[in-house]
Amino acid sequence: MLTQQQLKENVAVAAIDYVLPYLKPDTIIGIGSGSTADLFIDQLAQFKSRFKGTVSSSERSTTRLQSHGIEVFDLNDISHVPVYIDGADEIDAGLHMIKGGGGALTREKIVASVADQFVCIADESKCVDYLGAFPLPVEIIPMAREAVARQMAALGGRPKLREGFTTDNGCQILDVAGLRITDPKALEARVNNIPGVVTCGLFAIAGAGVALISTQTGVEQRK
Ligand code: 5RP
Repeated sequence: MLTQQQLKENVAVAAIDYVLPYLKPDTIIGIGSGSTADLFIDQLAQFKSRFKGTVSSSERSTTRLQSHGIEVFDLNDISHVPVYIDGADEIDAGLHMIKGGGGALTREKIVASVADQFVCIADESKCVDYLGAFPLPVEIIPMAREAVARQMAALGGRPKLREGFTTDNGCQILDVAGLRITDPKALEARVNNIPGVVTCGLFAIAGAGVALISTQTGVEQRK
């Protein structure tokens, strides 16, 4: 029986096989955040001479990339990102995701939005029929915390401030439990429209293009 850590390691290796065709001297790769993305970065380091560099979705990933000698570019200086690799907290059969367990959701959504393709890498424990058992992270401007919390409660959620946590953007996170998300695109649009919300951790309007899911019997590619 493979542990969750071994499953994550396996999908990081499989993700390298997936991105190898993209690794060219002028290519910039989009890099996500979290423990699975960390393992992918460690694998990618072996191939750093084959591509130009990366754009990163968090200070944590930037530090790890640079520790391997992989260049990290400012997204403002980059016009083309063919592929973005990132983990997820939950993913459904339509490849809609909840992300932001590590608090990097806004930069993740920004980098993903400029990439041609989002490749989700996850172990099978992240696969769900309905999103929402994992509390939905919502990044907020601090002065709007209570106003946003009331609106999330009105939507049926139980918002809780992530104590002692500040995002890379200087904002706060509300983790919203109790949402059974039957229409993730509609909820993403609804929550993102609340004044004071920077973005929510639903990646549904633009979900993953492909998911590499690590199972006990191997890594499966889902589209
Ligand atoms: C960070 C994220 C991560 O992708 C998500 O939390 C999954 O993390 P891990 O790979 O550690 O399970 O969205 O903001």
